[in-house]
Amino acid sequence: VSSQQRQLLALHERVRDLYHHILMNTKVGEEALNYLHERGLNDELIEEFNIGFAPNERGFLVQVCQQDKIETAVMENSGLFVQREDGSFNDRFYQRVMFPLNDPRGRTVGFSGRLLVSKDFSGENQPKYLNSPETELFNKRQVLFNFDKARNEIRKQGEAILFEGFMDVLAAWQAGIKIGLASMGTSLTEQQIRAIERLTSHVILAYDGDSAGLTATERALRLLTDHSRLQLSAVTIPEKLDPDEYLRKYGAEELRNLLQHGRQTPFVFKMNYLEKGLNLENENDRLIYLNELVDELVKVQSPMEQDLYLGQLSERFDITREGLKQQLKQARRSQR
Ligand code: CTP
Ligand code: MN
Ligand code: MN
Ligand code: MN
Ligand code: MN
Repeated sequence: VSSQQRQLLALHERVRDLYHHILMNTKVGEEALNYLHERGLNDELIEEFNIGFAPNERGFLVQVCQQDKIETAVMENSGLFVQREDGSFNDRFYQRVMFPLNDPRGRTVGFSGRLLVSKDFSGENQPKYLNSPETELFNKRQVLFNFDKARNEIRKQGEAILFEGFMDVLAAWQAGIKIGLASMGTSLTEQQIRAIERLTSHVILAYDGDSAGLTATERALRLLTDHSRLQLSAVTIPEKLDPDEYLRKYGAEELRNLLQHGRQTPFVFKMNYLEKGLNLENENDRLIYLNELVDELVKVQSPMEQDLYLGQLSERFDITREGLKQQLKQARRSQR
């Protein structure tokens, strides 16, 4: 670790604790704390994750750094400031609920800030979430939210759950599900997949139930199938909800139940996914559907599982097993 890195780590820790203190103990943080409580997050969780609040004042951290005699170069490389034309600094994060992003050892290396809309701040033209930019410490292609806290439990339980948003990870945590991870608003990267593979061989995808979430699930399944040997399943959250909303609407027990018993194999997920965009009463759509599914069937490794789906398709669409098997052979050849 270089001296610069050490200073950056120290600054992140200091800033994290300061934002946390503002949230928990000051008038300025009151509205943000109420917001978190209204979202169903309790103090125990807020403490555990060191959630904080960045006040609506763009010189706040700048002043702290001046008092602490932080070197200009360190401020510049921390990602916590934006520099004006004249070289002076502004806080990057203001009027945001601050979620520390940690490395696998639990050291804070960046932040994600969620906009807090309030009576004096409409947040117009501001993104809902703002992340630290890439720095010497923070690489968003590498960070998985909650990896540091979940790793032991993932090893123990033999599985990890991937959520779309880190608010879902927090909601699940509060429902007693402590094996949740999330990437920071990007699709999974090779590095993140490798990190997960070192902990477990089974991943459950539980992205949002809206159409963006379903599309992301389809993409993630493909990515993980092509780039890992992980055993995969996917859960579709009903009513287009995300896991956090589902928890709020139906309670912890129901969320746990869904994540346990609502698991679909990648093939079954794909079956349901494809069906949404097609009219299976129509011959043309039906053939598109079957062709796609046969391509998907090629990827099913287990002969027993393959046979199960062959039987189901054969019965449902009144096609002989023999015909489907021929098609499967063809597909296998053309995919090679
Ligand atoms: N995201 C982002 N920038 C945005 C919106 C989303 O970086 N403007 C990322 C965040 O990492 C977020 C993830 O994409 O965790 C999922 O987005 P979304 O489903 O919108 O987030 P939620 O967790 O549902 O956020 P909230 O419940 O606070 O609205
Ligand atoms: Mn505390
Ligand atoms: Mn979403
Ligand atoms: Mn969401
Ligand atoms: Mn949400």
